[in-house]
Amino acid sequence: MSESTNQESLANLLHEERRFEPPAELAASANVKAEVYEEAAADRLAFWAKQAERLHWEQPFDEVLDWSDPPFAKWYVGGRLNAAYNCVDRHVEAGNGDRVALHWVGEPDDDTRDLTYAQLQTEVCKAANALTELGVKTGDRVAIYMPMVPEVVIAMLACARLGAPHTVVFGGFSADALASRVTDCGAKVVITADGGYRRGAASSLKPAVDEACEKVGASGELSVEKVLVVRRTGEEVGWTEGRDVWWHDVVDGASSEHAPEAFDSEHPLYVMYTSGTTGKPKGILHTTGGYLVGTSYTHWAVFDLKPETDVYWCTADVGWVTGHSYMVYGPLANGATQVIYEGTPDTPHKGRWWEICEKYGVTIFYTAPTAIRTFMKQGAEIPQKFDLSKLRILGSVGEPINPEAYVWYRETIGGGRCPVVDTWWQTETGQIMISPLPGVTAGKPGSAMTPLPGISAEVVNDEGQPVGNGGGGYLVLTEPWPAMLRTLWGDDQRFKDTYWSRFKDVYFAGDGAKLDDDGDIWLLGRVDDVMNVSGHRLSTTEIESALVSHPKVAEAAVVGAKDETTGQAVCAFVILRESALESGEEAPDSLIQELRKHVQKEIGAIAKPRQIMVVPELPKTRSGKIMRRLLRDVAEHREVGDVTTLADSTVMDLISKGIDSGSSSGDEG
Ligand code: WTA
Repeated sequence: MSESTNQESLANLLHEERRFEPPAELAASANVKAEVYEEAAADRLAFWAKQAERLHWEQPFDEVLDWSDPPFAKWYVGGRLNAAYNCVDRHVEAGNGDRVALHWVGEPDDDTRDLTYAQLQTEVCKAANALTELGVKTGDRVAIYMPMVPEVVIAMLACARLGAPHTVVFGGFSADALASRVTDCGAKVVITADGGYRRGAASSLKPAVDEACEKVGASGELSVEKVLVVRRTGEEVGWTEGRDVWWHDVVDGASSEHAPEAFDSEHPLYVMYTSGTTGKPKGILHTTGGYLVGTSYTHWAVFDLKPETDVYWCTADVGWVTGHSYMVYGPLANGATQVIYEGTPDTPHKGRWWEICEKYGVTIFYTAPTAIRTFMKQGAEIPQKFDLSKLRILGSVGEPINPEAYVWYRETIGGGRCPVVDTWWQTETGQIMISPLPGVTAGKPGSAMTPLPGISAEVVNDEGQPVGNGGGGYLVLTEPWPAMLRTLWGDDQRFKDTYWSRFKDVYFAGDGAKLDDDGDIWLLGRVDDVMNVSGHRLSTTEIESALVSHPKVAEAAVVGAKDETTGQAVCAFVILRESALESGEEAPDSLIQELRKHVQKEIGAIAKPRQIMVVPELPKTRSGKIMRRLLRDVAEHREVGDVTTLADSTVMDLISKGIDSGSSSGDEG
């Protein structure tokens, strides 16, 4: 990027003047204070050595980091530990066995279960013994395809206890996706359930497992030897004798005594496949010691966790990395009390999440911007019916949070008193990397602010040179960190090519970012979401934020569509707020012109959308990411491409129908 391009992207910054200082009381008692940044910068490895004291090491490590063969890192070299012991047993031994680890809430009303740390220990030991009976040994891979029930946490911890890396596959994925992941990591055991509850009904899982096992077996190289099935819905399931085993038949009667073995710090803990890329899935490998240090430290620091008094709730599904790092490993390593919820946010009513927050007195709440925008769309009256006064910290993850959504979250959910921590990280990073600290940082809505203590990031240009304050470019991580991915499962070369070859000696995150005049980081979305309009770099996120800041807009997605004159042109898809239009009425042309002018006012004429289409829904993956590729197909009048990773595949039909009936405008106004 040239100097002049930097100047142009600078001119495109949204002008955000709001600042939110940490509440005085929170700042005074915060786990992490301002001086920690300097301490970590002065001696990064000493800092990470100190954080490792959070864990129980059966054998201490001799070296913090071995970076002699980059990009292959070894953290806490020579150390030995057991992840499950660290997440469960040691809390019981420390006298906290009666503390609730999990407040589980099923989707059907009144279907709840609390598990203390002592009960969790018993369950994990039984499951570990049962898995051993089924032939699982240290190093074997186990696939987990389950709903959000306590057994999924128990299963993950039982695998970790045995040193058998798990690969959790999101329950919303198809049999094909499951089969390809099982095959790629060579799992010989699958843990599943008959089904789970979603949107008020039983939703089955076992048929997809049966189909996946058949596919895996057909390849001739591998076969799934055992399928362990939790009974959740009680629906009838197909059964393969000799292969399928009920969880209650083998786990319930197993011994509750199990001695945890200590494994090398670099022993594989799990493989998590990332979606969204074409071709073969990428199996991100995380290992034991560094991952547990990275997740437990950041969970404690970013959420200011006080395990004796806080009630924490991360709404992510366990099938994503957020569910691994900030529902299972980070919080349990810290001895937290947390909520897990099985179902969807609007079942049986739109206030379900807030009802749960009220019932359990949730103090720390972690969710995604897409959920926040949905709640905004539904209106403040819904959360306002519930007592959310116990909340003290709010978190956001997964995509840039628009300033409007941030402020709504802070005000409406957080009562104006809770800091919002916008946490940037990836499946690959394992742990939160860039985020405010709630007791230190004066937050700016829309900015993830600065790298956490012990983390080094830069924004660089095409040549890999730092852009400096006020500049825009690519986000890179310049020093190794404890929870970093170690490789792609079975594919070291692809690991190097994907992350370490774009810029010399640094990790390329694939995200665009800008540094504001204070040096704070604003994420601009994936670099493939950055548009180039008449030679100007424009971020989809920035324009989406501008659209969402209009009072009539609930949600917006922006894509760059090919344009003969300008290279790319800005095309926007918007969902209007329920209050903006009488139901059934077409979006009037005047409103579309108003929105185009609004973007021009907020960002500049260059960002004014060529076209705005009013749509009833946006196409999203099951993890809530907008599939811009499909919207680009619509904007460029192409046949819509592969929709198999859409959460709801009918959305594209709705969008196309809406556009055919004329609720869009492509005219210059
Ligand atoms: C995006 C989820 C802006 C980013 C933990 C990243 C974010 C990708 C943020 C990783 C954030 C995540 N602000 N963008 N706070 N958090 N992202 O692997 O593009 O599902 O590269 O991990 O999500 O998504 P993943």
